[in-house]
Amino acid sequence: MEHEKETIPGSVWALTIGVVITIISIWVGQNNGLMPEQASEQAPLVDNFFNLMVIIGTALFLLVEGAIIFAAIKYRKPKGDNTDAAPIKGNLPLEVFWTAIPAIIVIILGIYSVDVYKEMGGLEIGHEAMMAHHHSETKIAMVPGSEMTAPLIDKTQGTEIASSKIGVGASPLREGKLADLVVNVTGLQFAWLFNYQDLGIMSGQLHVPVGKDVLLNITAKDVIHAFWVPQFRLKQDAIPGEETQLRFVATKPGNYPIVCAELCGSYHGGMRSEIIVHTPEEYDAWLEENQVASKQQDLKEAVAVKSSDRSNSEFLAPYAEEIGIDHNSLAQLQQ
Ligand code: CUA
Repeated sequence: MEHEKETIPGSVWALTIGVVITIISIWVGQNNGLMPEQASEQAPLVDNFFNLMVIIGTALFLLVEGAIIFAAIKYRKPKGDNTDAAPIKGNLPLEVFWTAIPAIIVIILGIYSVDVYKEMGGLEIGHEAMMAHHHSETKIAMVPGSEMTAPLIDKTQGTEIASSKIGVGASPLREGKLADLVVNVTGLQFAWLFNYQDLGIMSGQLHVPVGKDVLLNITAKDVIHAFWVPQFRLKQDAIPGEETQLRFVATKPGNYPIVCAELCGSYHGGMRSEIIVHTPEEYDAWLEENQVASKQQDLKEAVAVKSSDRSNSEFLAPYAEEIGIDHNSLAQLQQ
């Protein structure tokens, strides 16, 4: 062992490798580019959490794969050596070590994720339902024994029961305040309908003003759907006979996809709509245009006024036969 003095000590190697892996992992975590753009107040919260998981995942990947490749090269079988390697069985300190580290990581991620969920408003759902109990709701009910053929629109003064609410409520900043805009959302095979009850507007697309506190009351007419806006990092099931909610503030004007994220039938893949986040001026213009449109008695005139959008019945028409909704029922959905 006369060359002993010239080798680099293992601790120095470990430190160097640790620093390099940490730097690479943090860089990958911050620059992974896996998420779409951020368009709601909740989006950065989710992304910070996601990026931390990418940092940890990258570090573990480099460590484990690096060790495998290093060992495969350094300890490969010498030529002509056909003997078995020395048997190794059990190493308690090592096993404690590699059990403790993942356990600590999982606990940290668990606590952090609950904090993110709280900041998003996930834990304020009950309080808020009690605050907003006086709004009325439209439920689309089915006639018993005639599923899919005759949906009825049943307007009732709804009374919210706090305990039955699920979803994302007000962020801690807005807890106890009423939302600026309330929209009732109905998922049905295979479309989303948005009912601005207080404003008398029914739309196939969701229009919201930027920077305002928006509350969606979500339900479904037929089967379970899921309302998902990737750019908002928000997703909520739409459940028949149950009202869920999503509360958000959009931070960036633009058009973002609304995607159904629950397999709901043969056209699930086509069950998409759009959320249009307007500047305040644009939103007022849209309101004015559509409040006029909704007052028109003749459905066709109403459709003509908002010719830039596809109306709900237009959207559904190609599928009407497939899903067993007749044209009268389609017309009814407009009301
Ligand atoms: Cu609705 Cu998938």
